[in-house]
Amino acid sequence: MVINKLFTSRSEKAHPLTYDAALAALRNVKFPGMSRDIISFGFVQDLKVDPAAGSIALQLSISSERPELAEEIRKNTDAALRSVPGVKTVAIELSRPTPPSQPRHDHAQATRAAIAGAAQILAVASGKGGVGKSTISTNLAYALADRGLRVGLLDADIHGPNVPALLELREPHAISADQLLLPVHHLGVEIVSLALISMGDTPVIWRGPMVAKMVTEFLHRVAWPELDVLVVDLPPGTGDVQLSLVQQADLTGALIVTTPQELSLLDARKGLRMFQQVDTPVLGIIENMSHYVCSSCGHEEYLFGRDGGVRVALELTIPLLGRIPLDVRVQGNHGSPCVRSFPDSPAAAAFRDIAASVERLLGRPAAASPANS
Ligand SMILES: Nc1ncnc2c1ncn2[C@@H]1O[C@H](COP(=O)(O)OP(=O)(O)O)[C@@H](O)[C@H]1O
Ligand SMILES: [Mg+2]
Repeated sequence: MVINKLFTSRSEKAHPLTYDAALAALRNVKFPGMSRDIISFGFVQDLKVDPAAGSIALQLSISSERPELAEEIRKNTDAALRSVPGVKTVAIELSRPTPPSQPRHDHAQATRAAIAGAAQILAVASGKGGVGKSTISTNLAYALADRGLRVGLLDADIHGPNVPALLELREPHAISADQLLLPVHHLGVEIVSLALISMGDTPVIWRGPMVAKMVTEFLHRVAWPELDVLVVDLPPGTGDVQLSLVQQADLTGALIVTTPQELSLLDARKGLRMFQQVDTPVLGIIENMSHYVCSSCGHEEYLFGRDGGVRVALELTIPLLGRIPLDVRVQGNHGSPCVRSFPDSPAAAAFRDIAASVERLLGRPAAASPANS
């Protein structure tokens, strides 16, 4: 832990310190040797800006094996913040992120049952439907598979199981001789969807407790092969159904998807609280449809303002793992998800970045590590 020295700025009277100015300064601090800034890496946590006192305090939580790199980032951050008008004091605390993975196969956790075959379970959640949860779950699953992990995708969104539509899967799940559901193997990812349990087009509008019971039953009656990560597309919301699902699925971690318009702190807080109730770490926030990238010049247009996601992430001290631009290509092409069918699109690049962060945060299971790394 390093607390840096206090200092005084001469320009404080002329320009009062603002949160936005502090944020802009942080955005200019890049990871050494890379073009990405420390905010987009999720290193900045617990940013506190006090305009009256002229003070900025934050934590830098840097996941690097090299302490000299963390120190370099701290120094650069310190220098960047010193140049902000109105600043009198800067306090930077350097910490190492704690890996979220708890030993999951703890038999004392009687209410939770691990899903057979899945080493880590990652839930993708959102406060509301239509924010891109399925699009993100799906592309994240394929991006993780492209990183060499064995990945499963469970479409548990009872209200709108739309993963099969995205991947153009139509055949219902086959059932094994011992009554287990067999996942569909699609382009290297094992998929199970509530929509493929021969219910046809009938909308599933059941009452909460029944739904939860059915989904958890279903979680444990699937013949998953050995998986490194199972990505679960949860039903939207933070009600009882979600809570009981989250509780019973024994999750390793969760991601919260939001869009800038409805990016109310309230929604994200509710999501965070739900996961905290069941001791599930929230690994990050993903902001979807956050900006538009001009296809001819590459200019990024932030239609709803730039800082919604960042502010929420900083306030809740959860990293903002990525921003997905508004782009029709996220829908993929003929059943092939965006990361595979439009790998050069900005959205695909964002999905890959998120997958890399997720892998870093989960910690790659030993079994999946390439022999030479
Ligand atoms: N970044 C994006 N750009 C353009 N359209 C998007 C984006 N993300 C999602 N969509 C579209 O928005 C709709 C809702 O997305 P979906 O992933 O089904 O949301 P959810 O699962 O949260 O209900 C879909 O038609 C999807 O193709
Ligand atoms: Mg969905």
